[in-house]
Amino acid sequence: MTNAEAYDRGFAHLSSHTVGPLLATARESLAPRLLDVGCGTGVVTAAALALGAEVTAVDADPVMLELIARRHPYATIRQATLPELPFEGELFDAIAGNFVINHVPDTAGALKELHRVLRPGGTIALTWWKSDEMTATSVFTEAITAAEVPYDPPRRPFSAHDTPPRFTALLAEAGFQAPAVDSVRWRHQVDLETWWTDIVESGGPRFGVIADHPPETVERIRSHYLRLATPYAQEGFPVCAYLAHATR
Ligand SMILES: C[S@@+](CC[C@H](N)C(=O)[O-])C[C@H]1O[C@@H](n2cnc3c(N)ncnc32)[C@H](O)[C@@H]1O
Repeated sequence: MTNAEAYDRGFAHLSSHTVGPLLATARESLAPRLLDVGCGTGVVTAAALALGAEVTAVDADPVMLELIARRHPYATIRQATLPELPFEGELFDAIAGNFVINHVPDTAGALKELHRVLRPGGTIALTWWKSDEMTATSVFTEAITAAEVPYDPPRRPFSAHDTPPRFTALLAEAGFQAPAVDSVRWRHQVDLETWWTDIVESGGPRFGVIADHPPETVERIRSHYLRLATPYAQEGFPVCAYLAHATR
C-alpha cells in the first residue's frame, strides 16, 4: 500500500516538474473543466485550481484520495480506475494525466475512454518517464542489483507503447487530432539521504519491496545507493519525461 505522505515528499516533488508544461495547453485554451487523472496527492490539481480551473481529480488508490481530498476541498474527488471512468461523455474541456498512463494495464482502452469524456476541441496532455534517462530511480534498481538482492519488479504493458512514435499512433487510433510528443529534461536536485527515505517509505510497486528485507539487507542496498548516487549530489539526477498532447 502507498504511503501517501512519503509519496508526496519524494515522488510528487519529482513529478511536479512537468506540471507547468502539462497544463500549458489547457491554459492556452482557458479550459475551465479539467480532469486530473491519476491525481496522486494533487500536484496537477493544485496548479490547475490556482489557474482558476474547475477541477475533477480521480485516482485508483483510496490512500491518495484521502490526502488530496483533505488538501483540496475545492476540487471534486472521485475514485476511478482507468480504463474506466464514471463520467458522461464530453464532460471535460481538458484532461491532464501526470505519470499515470505508464501504470495503466490497457493503454489503448484508457485512451479511448479519455477521448470519450473529453469535449470536441478539448485538449489532453499525458506524461511518462523515459526509462533509460531516469537516474533518480534507476539508481535504486542498480543498488539492489549491486547488493545482489533478488529483484523482480512488476512488468508494465505500457513499455510496448512508450516511445513517441508508438504513443502518437495510439493517440491517433483513439481518435485524437494533432497528436505529438515532446521531451522534458531537467536535473532533480535532492538531498541523497532524504531521497532514499522518501522513495523507500513511499511503498510503491517498484521500490516498496526494499523495506520488506531484513535491516542488514536494507543497509547493504542503502550503502550501494549512496555510492552510486554520490556523483549526482552536486548537480542533481538527470531525468527525462515524455509529454504527449493532442486535441479531440
Ligand atoms: C506516479 S503517481 C502520479 C501521481 C500524480 N499525478 C503526480 O504527478 O504526482 C501515479 C498515480 O496513478 C494512480 N493510478 C495507477 N493506476 C491507475 C489507474 N489504472 N487508474 C487511475 N489511477 C491510477 C496511482 O494510484 C498514483 O496515484
